[in-house]
Amino acid sequence: MIISLIGYMGSGKSRIAKCLQEQTKFNLIDLDVLISKKNNSAITEIFKQKGEIFFRRLERETLEEVLATEENCIVSLGGGTPCYYNNIEVINNASLSVYLRARIPTLAERLRLQKNKRPLIANISDEDLPEFIAKHLFERNKFYSQAKFTVDTDEKTPEEISEEIIHLPGFPG
Ligand code: S3P
Repeated sequence: MIISLIGYMGSGKSRIAKCLQEQTKFNLIDLDVLISKKNNSAITEIFKQKGEIFFRRLERETLEEVLATEENCIVSLGGGTPCYYNNIEVINNASLSVYLRARIPTLAERLRLQKNKRPLIANISDEDLPEFIAKHLFERNKFYSQAKFTVDTDEKTPEEISEEIIHLPGFPG
């Protein structure tokens, strides 16, 4: 069984994936880490040198490989992964998808401190960040909302969220 974590940048996918891994002993796969390794460069460098279209192709390719080869694992996807090609269908066909939903102020607060790792927001001022996120989420919601489950994450610890996910219907064990 593959559990895939979907959510906007800063929604806590990586931290929650780690918690889930500790609780389930499943393998942990971070799609961005895998893409980085495959390409031998950081995500920001891939965007800078080869552009977003190249990154999205690599992301799709890596997603397909992971879903086809892994058995029991937690996959932390990139914020944009479900929103390109028919990735959300591919994700839903091969895994139990969980959307980690967070409010705009929560995301803006977290992302303000981590902009340099994220090429899509690196040049957005702190002041413009909430509006940027709001528009971006509006476009992406139609994909995120197709996840099999949605878990609200505001004001919850990664441990609490992980616990909630483990008790979702269909979760193994
Ligand atoms: C992206 C999110 C990033 C990374 C890339 C693009 C996006 O992952 O895949 O910078 O389109 O939202 P995180 O959600 O882990 O930051």
